[in-house]
Amino acid sequence: MRVAVPRETDAGEPRVAATPETVKKLKSFGAEVAIARGAGIASGIPDSEFEAVGAQIADVVTKDADIVLKVRRPAPAELAEYKKGALVVAIMDPYGNEAALKQMADAGVSAMAMELMPRITRAQSMDVLSSQANLAGYRAVIDAAEEYGRALPMMMTAAGTVPAAKVFIMGVGVAGLQAIATARRLGAIVTATDVRPATKEQVESLGAKFLAVEDEEFKNAQTAGGYAKEMSKEYQAKQAALVAEHIKKQDIVITTALIPGRPAPRLISKEMVASMRPGSVIIDLAVERGGNVEGAQANSVIQAGGVKIVGHLNVAGRLAASASALYAKNLLTFVETLIDKKEKKLAVNWDDELVKATLLTRDGAVVNPNFKPKTP
Ligand code: NAI
Repeated sequence: MRVAVPRETDAGEPRVAATPETVKKLKSFGAEVAIARGAGIASGIPDSEFEAVGAQIADVVTKDADIVLKVRRPAPAELAEYKKGALVVAIMDPYGNEAALKQMADAGVSAMAMELMPRITRAQSMDVLSSQANLAGYRAVIDAAEEYGRALPMMMTAAGTVPAAKVFIMGVGVAGLQAIATARRLGAIVTATDVRPATKEQVESLGAKFLAVEDEEFKNAQTAGGYAKEMSKEYQAKQAALVAEHIKKQDIVITTALIPGRPAPRLISKEMVASMRPGSVIIDLAVERGGNVEGAQANSVIQAGGVKIVGHLNVAGRLAASASALYAKNLLTFVETLIDKKEKKLAVNWDDELVKATLLTRDGAVVNPNFKPKTP
């Protein structure tokens, strides 16, 4: 049983799908592990550290691999080097990428998308959305603090008082909760909003103030899966009016609002941006999915009047070493369920709910019911 960890080919991807710790474990399950030369460098892991735990370092690692572990979905040129029938486990970004899914099917690999892992107790340690969003939420506050020309905590000095910064977090999932906690630790005055009622208590338990349109629709805005629904036009208008008043008085706004499989909801208009004080900072963590903020641009920091709008991509990757450590661990715990450790070989239970939920392609076809091509 051979496991391969190629180098990520996307220039904006510093993370790596294994660490010396996870390689050691994979070896203890009976796997031979090959790591592409330099694959860990951008995450602070030199080849020598992988070698020290028994990994083989090579330029091409995927040719005869039974399992390929990656951060991002492999491009066609990479797939050409994979063995037919190989398991490929990565963050596959499947929504709206039908052509890429077909390429993986055509390459004959069994592609598994880590972000489709069910959010059930057994799979908590495999939840990449949580492990990466948590770091992104933290990093968003650090990025905001860097862009903001003032201090976050209140400081009373002989030379005068610096007021505490007012930070507003929009969207209180995993990223938003960590952003609240981080901004509080830095001494900011924090408010937060979400459309799911369950978040109110979570916000308050972190010492922040909750703000939302709490009508009948709000009471039913959470799906059985724990996610937000897309809100009605009427609700969005009420929400916008409330936010417009509040945002004028904020120094830093961090938006994290997402709806699974849909474009990110637009929460901040140009007018709202213009109403903020010069020197204010907005961080749009949803920019990858269309953005919560009007005018936000992926991969750039733009100046809108006096307000900075920050649209970094792959924010978890801005903490590459931490992000890789957690991601590699997520992968390891999942892969462990695909292996017969006694026989030291692959033993995928295709009926396991974790496999069924994450499996996108197998035996030349797209097999996931949510992504199967629709018959005309
Ligand atoms: P997400 O990344 O899908 O969305 C971020 C936040 O944006 C959510 O809180 C959502 O309610 C909010 N949002 C959507 N539309 C909005 C709007 N118009 N205005 C304001 N906010 C809006 O969410 P994430 O972080 O993936 O968490 C989703 C749920 O999953 C939560 O209930 C979380 O507690 C739960 N969860 C469960 C886990 C488990 O059981 N293993 C692990 C991690 C999270």
